[in-house]
Amino acid sequence: MSVTTMDARSGVYNDKVVRQFAIMTVVWGVVGMLVGVIIAAQLTWPELNLGIEWLTYGRLRPLHTNAVIFAFGGCGLFATSYYVVQRTCQTRLISDKLAAFTFWGWQLVIVLAAVSLPLGLTSGKEYAELIWPIDVLITLVWVAYAIVFFGTVGIRKVRHIYVANWFFGAFIIAVALLHIVNSAALPTGFLHAYSAYAGVQDAMVQWWYGHNAVGFFLTAGFLGMMYYFIPKQAERPVYSYRLSIVHFWALIFTYMWAGPHHLHYTALPDWTQSVGMIFSLILLAPSWGGMINGIMTLSGAWHKLRDDPILRFLIVSLSFYGMSTFEGPMMSIKTVNALSHYTDWTVGHVHSGALGWVGLVTMGSMYYLIPRLFGQTKMYSVKAIELHFWVATIGIVLYIAAMWIAGVMQGLMWRAVNPDGSLTYTFVESVKASFPFYVIRLLGGVLYLGGMGVMAWNVWKTAVQGKVVDVAIPAVKPAHA
Ligand code: HEM
Ligand code: HEM
Repeated sequence: MSVTTMDARSGVYNDKVVRQFAIMTVVWGVVGMLVGVIIAAQLTWPELNLGIEWLTYGRLRPLHTNAVIFAFGGCGLFATSYYVVQRTCQTRLISDKLAAFTFWGWQLVIVLAAVSLPLGLTSGKEYAELIWPIDVLITLVWVAYAIVFFGTVGIRKVRHIYVANWFFGAFIIAVALLHIVNSAALPTGFLHAYSAYAGVQDAMVQWWYGHNAVGFFLTAGFLGMMYYFIPKQAERPVYSYRLSIVHFWALIFTYMWAGPHHLHYTALPDWTQSVGMIFSLILLAPSWGGMINGIMTLSGAWHKLRDDPILRFLIVSLSFYGMSTFEGPMMSIKTVNALSHYTDWTVGHVHSGALGWVGLVTMGSMYYLIPRLFGQTKMYSVKAIELHFWVATIGIVLYIAAMWIAGVMQGLMWRAVNPDGSLTYTFVESVKASFPFYVIRLLGGVLYLGGMGVMAWNVWKTAVQGKVVDVAIPAVKPAHA
């Protein structure tokens, strides 16, 4: 490459990699949610696995979780973090080649996951199912990601590091740590390995990982999105910048200790379970602090919610964030967990966070981002965004309400005893009683997926009518300007 091209390039942002990740967010969203709908249908009518081993529930379920969390959520996080770090540091990504490596490497991880999981190749650890060679590839991609992100922060043209970057940075560092520690294993061949940990330590490490996957993959990075895209879309500064800093430190410190709430009433020492419970209760405060900071950013501009569907996606996502981070601490109380654990209440909690928070904030951010990546000011159809919002919201409400009712009902049926001490209900009676709620959940899932389909169409139309443009990096103003 000639020196002139290099110079010309350094004056514009690297939006190519942002565009690639943004498009794949939508593609993997459709795929991951489709698999979600299929497994929801299988839980309702088990014969839908058609007797084919690759399509059995046990194999498709991890495919769903990996696709929605790491493919849909992951691509959304890559796209937004690359966009935000360039805009807030007023500089181009430090390396185009490494950034391209993260894109192609991450897509390869996803494709390998999509092949290996239906084949039944798994490490057996939830949310870390992929076999060790894929884990090695993930590590390489993640290290490259860290270099690109922190390298770009390092060459920033503005002194201040905007708070969204703190959240993205914490997400990148924590996920690296979690992945490396939890995936440590002794390979016995190319397709199999033994975990480096055994027994209760293995469970403890796994749920330290699992909970922080929620805290850092499904929360911290998305809070980075919130802190950039809500102020941008609302055209107002963050409600309290000071609160955002307190929010950051309190959240990342507290999350790390809450993992044992996944292991209540197990062989894990009792005091460890209590520590997990107490930190989970404390976690309510920073979570709500962040939610309030996001929502109050709209103060004085509430009217914008009426006619801006993108803002509605972003603000309603925060309401679901508030709901699930209230519910989580309640479920971490041992006596509540005694009822909720093993039931669909957990699945309801997961999806109020996943569909409501992670899904909606990602979609809102993509609706902001995608037209700008194709030289447009807005999406092809604003009406379609409106439709998407309502279909998705109704879908979420159906999904989570059905799971809450089914979950509490299951918990109560399982613990009911007759005066002579025998169980009032057989297990299969609780399964039968859950059936109508599984149908309602499926309907909610179909609606949510339908909304994603509308989004895919709208993105396609926006991309086709738009054109790829280079965006110049503005000259940095002196600090007092
Ligand atoms: C159309 C949308 C979706 C449908 C129909 C759906 C359906 C399902 C179903 C049926 C399960 C298995 C529940 C069980 O084991 O009893 C599940 C699990 C899960 N899904 Fe979804 N899902 C959808 C979207 C999402 C999204 C967008 C995310 C994350 C961003 C997500 C994250 C998860 C997680 C983490 C689990 C595991 C839950 C646990 O172990 O308790 N899902 N989903
Ligand atoms: C203050 C914040 C939160 C706390 C204290 C919390 C607490 C809990 C508790 C107690 C459980 C049930 C554990 C069990 O009985 O097995 C749980 C499960 C879960 N939560 Fe949360 N939660 C929080 C926020 C969230 C958010 C925002 C999300 C998603 C974006 C989320 C995703 C999950 C997932 C995926 C599981 C299921 C794990 C599994 O068993 O596979 N949580 N959470």
